Amino acid sequence: MNLPEIHKFKSSQNIKRENKAKIIYLLSTKSNKFALLKNIVDMHRTHTCGELRIVDVDKEVTLSGWVQKVRNKGGMVWVDLRDRYGITQLIVEEGSTATEIIDAAKNLGREFVIKATGIVAERYAKNDKIPTGDIEIKPSRIEILNSSKTPPFTIEDETDGGEDIRMKYRYLDLRRNVIREKLQLRHSMMQHVRSFLSNEDFIEVETPVLIKSTPEGARDFVVPSRMNAGEFYALPQSPQTFKQLLMVSGFDRYFQIVKCFRDEDLRADRQPEFTQIDCEMSFVETEDIYNNFEGLVKYLFKNVKGITLNEVPRMTYANAMKYYGSDKPDTRFDMKFTELNSVAQNKGFNVFDSAELVVGINAKGCAEYTRKQLDGLTDFVRRPQVGAKGLVYVKCNSDGTFKSSVDKFYSQEDLKEWADKMEAVAGDLLLVLSGDTAHTQNALNELRLHMGAALGLRDKNNFAPLWVTDFPLLEWDEDTQRFHAMHHPFTSPKAEDMHKLDSKPGEVRANAYDLVINGVEIGGGSIRIHDREMQKLMFKHLGFTEKEAQDQFGFLMDAFEYGAPPHGGIAFGFDRLCALFGGSDSIRDYIAFPKNNSGRDVMIDSPSPISAEQLKELAININ
Ligand code: AMO
Repeated sequence: MNLPEIHKFKSSQNIKRENKAKIIYLLSTKSNKFALLKNIVDMHRTHTCGELRIVDVDKEVTLSGWVQKVRNKGGMVWVDLRDRYGITQLIVEEGSTATEIIDAAKNLGREFVIKATGIVAERYAKNDKIPTGDIEIKPSRIEILNSSKTPPFTIEDETDGGEDIRMKYRYLDLRRNVIREKLQLRHSMMQHVRSFLSNEDFIEVETPVLIKSTPEGARDFVVPSRMNAGEFYALPQSPQTFKQLLMVSGFDRYFQIVKCFRDEDLRADRQPEFTQIDCEMSFVETEDIYNNFEGLVKYLFKNVKGITLNEVPRMTYANAMKYYGSDKPDTRFDMKFTELNSVAQNKGFNVFDSAELVVGINAKGCAEYTRKQLDGLTDFVRRPQVGAKGLVYVKCNSDGTFKSSVDKFYSQEDLKEWADKMEAVAGDLLLVLSGDTAHTQNALNELRLHMGAALGLRDKNNFAPLWVTDFPLLEWDEDTQRFHAMHHPFTSPKAEDMHKLDSKPGEVRANAYDLVINGVEIGGGSIRIHDREMQKLMFKHLGFTEKEAQDQFGFLMDAFEYGAPPHGGIAFGFDRLCALFGGSDSIRDYIAFPKNNSGRDVMIDSPSPISAEQLKELAININ
């Protein structure tokens, strides 16, 4: 029975606090199956710190919680008592409160845990910022349940603690409303995901955490096996092969809210252990996946944020790259790319003439940018993370003329051609980059996002979901000089592109898709290969020998020989989804105990060395 239920039950039975008898409360759950013994008098609290209102005036109550703040104004002491549910003010006054209570209140320190019993009174000066702001408690008893050292940072919404110190004392950081609310949002999202998928006949199945290391994808975290000296398990980067095996087993619709582990470089939206909503379905094509999971996303937006989403638009990977230079375009704002090769080349400007791609964006209404602002943009694109060599601009002046950084090479007529192509009008600013296609698209994507933010077009309360479809099957990797699976090796190629697998492998498209929201890759999946020969062929194209393929994925290919149904699925990054719903860029605050950018948990100080005995037992020699 939770607190409000106990309270409701108590008042409905009109039980006096003085009643010292043990009372059996029947749980007011739907089933009424359980019973709970409680001693009402010894209870630490009758109410939470967020619960009391003006209607409770004159009631005697007991509250327990943490001391947020003590204000001592000579004859009067106010104590803000905090718990998960809110803050209630206690007040002790010389003249009307016993001296020992006044002394006790004066000596309370921040974060002391106390239990206070007293009468609810109406406040003289009400506080409309908190729900309990109309009342205060006049304590007749204050009991210190535990003292506290002075916390290393203030436990308030706006704290004076930096990231490092907050992570070291994460249990204190978690006391702050703003952080707790994020985890409550996560909890609520999790309930809604389970509810939606269960209603749609998905079965949640847990798959193993100690699995087998494979070379595809990111690096594995590995775990030595004491009983199998010299051998290692790997922690799953995702339950991919297991969910496919569940389809072979006939589960038909599977999901799991599951921890995944990847030893990769960390960023604001990447943690080494993170959570996926992992899903798989049998007898489906891409269209079924879009419909089903659009349903999930709409359900979450409706139930968690009260937002009704329209149908999720779709864009091919090829168009996403062409118009946004990114496979995860932020479609909250337009500012699409325009290729300018035909109008910008062969006019004597060598930089453009020698470029594979000349491409620009139209920053609407920015023609008035100053020299300093334009230099700032040039510096931005030259940053190593963006990687452009320089930036060309064209100002579309209000008198119909143009002013560009390349006036030497281009006439007013030439620049008008650019402007027409980019649908620019007077007052607009054209920003143009050039170079090889991949780098230029990437750099202009960064500049587009930068301009979008500068112009206030990336509102956190505006949500633009998008399916990005038809991803390439394979991706050339310069380092290893071979093709890698762009999604993973179990993704099926598009039947109509199969003929290019030998001649132009880079052009083969896959039945693979991502769900992107506001420029963040929220989920990704594919229709799978379900045929042994096709899977073998795929491994061959990925550079596996037949033996390597059999050793690493023989179990899956063997399973395909026992009636594997056509199947496909998707996994959503749950932490990212929570951060998006909560309006943050970083997923860290949505994880109770996250790792820092070096993959360390600074609170428990992990990873850490292990003893020589442990190493010996595991047959690991690190010298
Ligand atoms: P993928 O590798 O695209 O697909 O992962 C699915 C989603 O998981 C999220 N994600 C992450 N979130 C936080 N930290 C990370 N390090 C991290 N890495 C990935 C992203 C991503 O879209 N098995 C396939 C899915 C499938 O094919 O069904 C898979 O794991 O939001």
